[in-house]
Amino acid sequence: MAKIDESNPLKHTIAHAKEYGFIFPSSEIYDGLSATYDYGQNGVQLKNNIKEYWWKAMVQMNENIVGIDAAIFMHPTTWKASGHVDAFNDPLIDNKDSKKRYRADTLIEEAIAKIESKIEKEAEKAFKRFGDSFDREQFLTTNQRVVDYKKKIDATNARLKKATEEKDFADVKALIEELEIACPVSGSRNWTDVRQFNLMFSTELGASAEGANTIYLRPETAQGIFVNFLNVQKSGRMKLPFGIAQIGKAFRNEIIARQFIFRMREFEQMEMQFFVKPGEELEWYEQWKQTRLKWHKNLGIAEENYRFHDHLNLAHYANAACDIEFNFPIGFKELEGIHSRTDFDLKSHEEHSGKKLHYFDSDDNESYVPYVIETSIGLDRMFLAVLSSSYTDETLEDGSERTVLKIPYALAPIKVGVLPLINKDGLPEKAREIMDKLKFDFQAQYEAKDSIGKRYRRHDAIGTPYCITVDHQTLEDDTVTLRNRDTMLQERISIPELKRQIEDRVSINNLLRQL
Ligand code: GAP
Repeated sequence: MAKIDESNPLKHTIAHAKEYGFIFPSSEIYDGLSATYDYGQNGVQLKNNIKEYWWKAMVQMNENIVGIDAAIFMHPTTWKASGHVDAFNDPLIDNKDSKKRYRADTLIEEAIAKIESKIEKEAEKAFKRFGDSFDREQFLTTNQRVVDYKKKIDATNARLKKATEEKDFADVKALIEELEIACPVSGSRNWTDVRQFNLMFSTELGASAEGANTIYLRPETAQGIFVNFLNVQKSGRMKLPFGIAQIGKAFRNEIIARQFIFRMREFEQMEMQFFVKPGEELEWYEQWKQTRLKWHKNLGIAEENYRFHDHLNLAHYANAACDIEFNFPIGFKELEGIHSRTDFDLKSHEEHSGKKLHYFDSDDNESYVPYVIETSIGLDRMFLAVLSSSYTDETLEDGSERTVLKIPYALAPIKVGVLPLINKDGLPEKAREIMDKLKFDFQAQYEAKDSIGKRYRRHDAIGTPYCITVDHQTLEDDTVTLRNRDTMLQERISIPELKRQIEDRVSINNLLRQL
């Protein structure tokens, strides 16, 4: 049984995911490929169910949202227009002794976090000294050491922001030197200069390199939606406001990719661009913030795991932006982004393509470029949120232990296990009969090997909400036991009732009805 390891909070999730067929390191027999993972037999089911929940909530439940599936390869000018060729960069620095590469801004942010933790330590010390009479607010604003720390943090933040905006990488390096940042591996301060590194993967289109065109693997799915805006609007006779949704792969040559499926080089996004009349975008932005948070909370994962993080430093094309953060085992981190992107993308595509991307508003008899609200969630991050929050180690009344994945029923990879109590007396045949009926309606799994207790534990460990057990009574009165994963309680149900009973409890429609 995987145990929680405080020093590496993702360790037990990673071990469990591998042991139970959710996630494997990619091409593992060749020692894997960093920041790339394969989804196993249970992982792919969970992933498909998350996609189904998102797709149905977006496309099926909203008459004014339709879906598309655009190609991964796009005309290279797309990425010029979107700003990715010129601005999708990370500032990198190498340590000459360890030969390790780091994001320069992350090194500085980590140094700032260290100063912040020094402030926290000062406050803790003072609390111990003064006890209940301790006034934290007053201490933080008057203690000279804390005030100096805060001044240093503010000055560093401001300088990093200015240097990044002005692409003054010499000053970013100077900051690293002044903060006396050392390489965590070699411990030395022997740094190279800071360089820009574009995160897009590129390849050549065509058979020969001669005259070949450099094309990119898309770093986001959104641009496939923008370039198809008019195709969809015209062919679907869509009226504003309307949305276009898409699920698909995206690729980024991430520098720091050491957090399991949280940050990968090949990942999947579920994005929706909502086109609105200019001037109405901030109202829609607020509405989509609430709609998306509700979608998350509807899963029944503890509410305190979610929070909004409003962006204070907005990208030049945005007039509002926030993240929905989730409390992953590695702390609160971005799960989904919601952005009010103005008309930046459509206008830029107009300029670069020379094609008009205007909408004719027949109500107001005017033509304009719509504004856009974007909701963008990483499917793999959503998977990690579900997997990590559902992992539970339990000690039972009899002192035995079990690991159970309390995955929301509608998302569980296998909905029902069908188990003959023993492997004789006609029980396997009866169980097979039930399995052959249920498999048309549910992802069901027949299991006859090992003791019934071990089979229950295996299903607990992959999050199966219900197990049907066929016993000797089944042959007499056509009933089976239905065991619930969370309560472990068993009830007797007649076989003709099974389909309805299970459907009532595990259907994705239960989630959709509550939205
Ligand atoms: N079109 C907007 C866009 O791509 P983003 O904040 O860069 O915005 C959106 O990405 C979402 O994609 C993030 O909230 C995150 O869930 C997911 N994501 C981004 N980079 C990722 C990576 N390297 N690995 C896994 N998921 C990633």
